[in-house]
Amino acid sequence: MTEKKRAESLPLEFKLVSADDVPLTYAIEIQEYPESEAASLKNLIFRQNAAPELFLGCYLRKDDNQDSPSSFHPSSNSTNTPLELVGYIVSTLVSGDHLTHSSMSSHDPSGDAVCIHSVCVSSAFQRRGIATRLLREYLQHLQGLNNNAHGSKRLKRVLLIAHEHTTGLYAGVGFVLIGKSSVEHGPDPWFEMVYTLEH
Ligand SMILES: CC(C)(COP(=O)(O)OP(=O)(O)OC[C@H]1O[C@@H](n2cnc3c(N)ncnc32)[C@H](O)[C@@H]1OP(=O)(O)O)[C@@H](O)C(=O)NCCC(=O)NCCS
Repeated sequence: MTEKKRAESLPLEFKLVSADDVPLTYAIEIQEYPESEAASLKNLIFRQNAAPELFLGCYLRKDDNQDSPSSFHPSSNSTNTPLELVGYIVSTLVSGDHLTHSSMSSHDPSGDAVCIHSVCVSSAFQRRGIATRLLREYLQHLQGLNNNAHGSKRLKRVLLIAHEHTTGLYAGVGFVLIGKSSVEHGPDPWFEMVYTLEH
């Protein structure tokens, strides 16, 4: 039996999810999240439309000759190689230091915090370091948005809520546990975590 390749040795490409690809994210979302937690297609379309720069996809290049992972280039559209979506992160903007039910339900264009709604990897590709790689690319991308903001609005922090068993994933890329979240949704408690951006 061949061992599954880890993220470092897969030909991955990171690019913003286009409106056309939102249904592909929805297919993964409903496959991987419990029904009570999965975003609706309508919500994903709303998020992509409201904050396209905060919707990052992880694609697998289906070209066997390419075996080194490439990094995310926002304006790059260089490859004609077929790509398979294997994971994504989607967010909107919120104001304030903590996430609430209400702030998570909308997008505040003047918000200085990024609220991550989904970090999702297709089950066939899980436990290979892809979410970790995707999170690192995402945080670098957000830092890049700040660095290019030239005095206009900057992003201060990245917030998310997670169940206890996945907090280690986020701690591993630099998120800090704030504590139990005020958000109640489903039977299990949510824990709020924050990553501080340079601004
Ligand atoms: C959670 C999820 C994004 C992780 O993706 P992934 O690509 O498998 O994550 P990684 O391989 O980068 O995991 C890195 C580490 O995080 C931890 N981790 C990841 N998934 C975990 C899980 N389901 N349970 C416990 N720890 C987990 C492990 O420590 C893992 O290291 P290891 O594989 O060496 O033990 C993926 O399982 C998923 O999409 N789940 C459904 C959606 C979801 O629940 N998203 C999180 C919302 S808070």
